[in-house]
Amino acid sequence: MRVLKNLFEKNKQWATRIKSADPDFFLKLSKQQSPEYLWIGCSDSRVPANEIVDLLPGEIFVHRNIANLMVHTDFNCLSVLQYATDVLKVKHIIVCGHYGCGGVKAAMDKQEHGIIDNWLRNIKDIYRYHQQQIDALETDKEKQDLLCELNVIEQVANVCHTTIVQNAWKSGRELTVHGWIYSIEDGILQDLNVCVANANEISRIHRIK
Ligand code: CO
Repeated sequence: MRVLKNLFEKNKQWATRIKSADPDFFLKLSKQQSPEYLWIGCSDSRVPANEIVDLLPGEIFVHRNIANLMVHTDFNCLSVLQYATDVLKVKHIIVCGHYGCGGVKAAMDKQEHGIIDNWLRNIKDIYRYHQQQIDALETDKEKQDLLCELNVIEQVANVCHTTIVQNAWKSGRELTVHGWIYSIEDGILQDLNVCVANANEISRIHRIK
């Protein structure tokens, strides 16, 4: 099937629905975007950023990749982060992981998965930093859940360690980085309370003068 008719149909219905609530919605939005939030989340189809926090187009800037990683050599994620921070001037950056993440699970097994193993390697490193704490847990599910949480915490740190975020803080800008986790079983978000709002809260070795 070369044309996905059903999706075009759904698109028309969606646009009509939005316009019926606000006839100028798309016109207003076409002139500018000024989202307050940057979302760094997992590509998993069950974790769609806008829907989870019930926000309309224009309200949240989104980057998604497998297992919601902020890797310091990934120019894709860095570019999104820079644009969101320097140009859109978002006030909040949300790193959102989720329980039952396939990327985290894959990083915990010893199988070969192809090129993605190079990406998952970042999660294996987090396992290594916290191996004692993780291995002390009884079930695989508990271990996976903890690694999903630790991964979010690590990615929050990675976001804060970038020169992009540190320069925003240095210029006196209000910018807060949050770590959240989502449950695909009940649709509920949980704050991991690892919020960072200034450079004094990050590790000394990463802090730029
Ligand atoms: Co995932």
